[in-house]
Amino acid sequence: MGNEELTYHVPVLLMPSVDGMNIRPDGTYVDVTFGGGGHSREILSRLGDGGQLLGFDQDEDAEQNIVDNPHFIFVRSNFRYLHNFLRYHNIEEVDSILADLGVSSHHFDDSERGFSFRFDGALDMRMNKRAGDTAADIINTYSEERLADIFYLYGELKNSRKLASVIVKARAGQKITTIGEFLEVIKPLFGREREKKELAKVFQALRIEVNQEMEALKEMLYAATEALKPGGRLVVITYHSLEDRMVKNIMKTGNVEGKMEKDFFGNVQTPFRLVNNKVIVPDDAEIERNPRSRSAKLRIAEKK
Ligand SMILES: C[S@@+](CC[C@H](N)C(=O)[O-])C[C@H]1O[C@@H](n2cnc3c(N)ncnc32)[C@H](O)[C@@H]1O
Repeated sequence: MGNEELTYHVPVLLMPSVDGMNIRPDGTYVDVTFGGGGHSREILSRLGDGGQLLGFDQDEDAEQNIVDNPHFIFVRSNFRYLHNFLRYHNIEEVDSILADLGVSSHHFDDSERGFSFRFDGALDMRMNKRAGDTAADIINTYSEERLADIFYLYGELKNSRKLASVIVKARAGQKITTIGEFLEVIKPLFGREREKKELAKVFQALRIEVNQEMEALKEMLYAATEALKPGGRLVVITYHSLEDRMVKNIMKTGNVEGKMEKDFFGNVQTPFRLVNNKVIVPDDAEIERNPRSRSAKLRIAEKK
């Protein structure tokens, strides 16, 4: 059983992130990205009488990892509704909140989910299989301009306009519904050596749009800022520069745009104190053990 749990997802920066939460045995904690439950299990191992952990995940597949522990409550929801679910569970304030953003290895490894260009299958990419547009819906219905914006903003792809234009031309002939069909359309745009890297960017951009990741992150960060007790910790692991910028901004300035608001004396008004000024990243041993940890960045801030 243990091995099955491990293959769902190997937790990234496990000890530095959970240590950063400053767990007290009787405290109230939230893991907004439960996934394989690696971080949640470590948090639960540090809880005792009166301790409580809420674990969120919008993907029903994560339910197979639910921990049988009296201190644990699983919430199958998007973390953008953090505020509503805390209220529903009569929780006014929490001691620390952990977010380990993005998708899990399970998403990339399950050929049915459409997250990986290693497999053919439906172009889906929804973390919540019950809601919203799939990647195929987006590719077949968005305007050329909107597609170009997504590839540029979320994938930082230099040839975003060309990419959007070949997609729109191809879909005029026939709907693009599978990963195989999509790759046939876009692959000629990329040189052999950079092909994998560029495809990863295209898939990342689509995944972010399908799951409305930036909007959900923004709403969760504001709800988390509100929900934390003074002295409570916000602990976030990011995997790409867009989400990292948002997290850095909220921790430094209290807003996701990074607008500095100063008081009469010129001091920046922010709800947080940074615990680590420099981002924490996995060491070489962790990257070797788990190559998917390579792009991880951990930031920790304490509510004033
Ligand atoms: C990187 S994995 C977390 C792995 C987890 N820390 C572990 O150790 O197994 C991210 C998880 O968060 C979930 N997720 C991502 N965005 C979400 C959101 N907006 N609301 C709820 N769950 C989300 C994904 O479904 C995925 O299972």
